[in-house]
Amino acid sequence: MLEIQKKYTLSCLPSDNPYLTDGWQPCDTEWTASTPDLKVIGDIPKDLNGVYLRNGHNQIHASLGKYHPFDGDGMIHGVYFENGKATYRNRFVRTTGFLAEAAAGKSLWPGIIEPRRAVRRGWGSIGAMKDNAGTDVKVHAGRALAAMSQCSEAYRLDPITLDTLGPDPTWSRVLGERGICSHFKVDEHNQDLMFFNFGEQPPYFNYGVINAANQLVHYEPIELPNATWPHDLGMSEHYCVIHDLSMFFDPEGLKKGQHRLRFFRDRPARFGVIPRYGKSQDVKWFEGIPCTVLHLANTYEVGDEIVMEGGIKTNPVPDLSALPKEGYARMNAMLSLDLQKTRMHRWRFNMKTGQTLEEDLDDEVTEFPMINGRTRGRPNRYVYNALIKPKWQLDGLKKYDWKTGKTQRWQAPNGCFVSEAPFASRDGAVEEDDGYLVTFITNLNSGRGECAIFNARDISTGPICTIVLPGHIPMGAHADWTSATALKSQPA
Ligand SMILES: [Fe+2]
Repeated sequence: MLEIQKKYTLSCLPSDNPYLTDGWQPCDTEWTASTPDLKVIGDIPKDLNGVYLRNGHNQIHASLGKYHPFDGDGMIHGVYFENGKATYRNRFVRTTGFLAEAAAGKSLWPGIIEPRRAVRRGWGSIGAMKDNAGTDVKVHAGRALAAMSQCSEAYRLDPITLDTLGPDPTWSRVLGERGICSHFKVDEHNQDLMFFNFGEQPPYFNYGVINAANQLVHYEPIELPNATWPHDLGMSEHYCVIHDLSMFFDPEGLKKGQHRLRFFRDRPARFGVIPRYGKSQDVKWFEGIPCTVLHLANTYEVGDEIVMEGGIKTNPVPDLSALPKEGYARMNAMLSLDLQKTRMHRWRFNMKTGQTLEEDLDDEVTEFPMINGRTRGRPNRYVYNALIKPKWQLDGLKKYDWKTGKTQRWQAPNGCFVSEAPFASRDGAVEEDDGYLVTFITNLNSGRGECAIFNARDISTGPICTIVLPGHIPMGAHADWTSATALKSQPA
């Protein structure tokens, strides 16, 4: 099968914005395409069964003000694997904002860096953006849930057809406009979903749990001194770790309606360890070196300690003084993961002594850590990250083995960029790294996207199989793997 479902006119193009061109150029077509009508280089493993989903921001309309790569409409690209066959689909998440702009034929909401242009109420932590649902996607209770980093209604999609099913009819009404933030966590051992949201008005942060039966069973405001700017949430077997970091909107500016993200380099990072079903007064706070954190690899418990591993940034705002105020140089500098020098780091929070111990795990700049989902919340040995090129481009993969200290790496060819590459267990696998990494490749040389499959035990030799997709796939945000077994076991 090779079908165009819908074609769009992208009035955001042409553009000189670096996040609308080259690897970031949005795609204009929704496809359904399956083998054998897709070219396959190598063999699709028959013991790789499930669905790989990747979200990303895919702008359609000319933006109100300057476009930022977190603004575009969420588009899910997915490949469903079954017994050596594959089907690719990509679909916009049809959010309320998406539908309203489609009806108007133009942008109705500004983006994250120009909220003052808003003329109507929006969604999320700023309250001015469109609910683009474009950052994260994970499967829970038989549905894929797409959410954005600045909080929004989480949109449900069929995880295979990618049809939008709308916000959950029960719990999304309770959460209201704040909704949930990207990087909610699903415990694969019991299907609890832990989430948070945040905003500029008290309560600045809420924490909650949705259980396997898709019921909101816990929702608590967490007391914080000021509005914060978290991105991820640690999840261990019995606890979650709340992030109150050193980078947030300047509180003085916020009082005047200004959104100036500042790094307060003398303000320690704060991490709140809360029992999975705990309340604000149960949070045990720990301090760490001033930093901000986008993405965690894992959080787990060892004796009296909660151990959290992820990418730390201790100097996240590069020197902008020499850069012109106009143009895209400042936005590029703020978004360049290489300039932020993100590196793998470990925090150990001692629940008895209240002490935090920290150590860097690597000097190299890497991001988007992925692990075997069965080890999420439990001690793990392996982590799979993306290598970073300037301007937020992912140009390879790196595997860490914490037990031996050894690493493996694979460098993508020139003009090719990877997406976040989740680990997919081989059917019947017992050992932690017995499986595959699945990712999309944005290939600027051919103009055609690819789905690449790596042997997770040896990524250095490159993909063992590449499926050539019918159209361009822009670089994007977060990805998820759900096995066929898990899909079947979850009642939708
Ligand atoms: Fe993220």
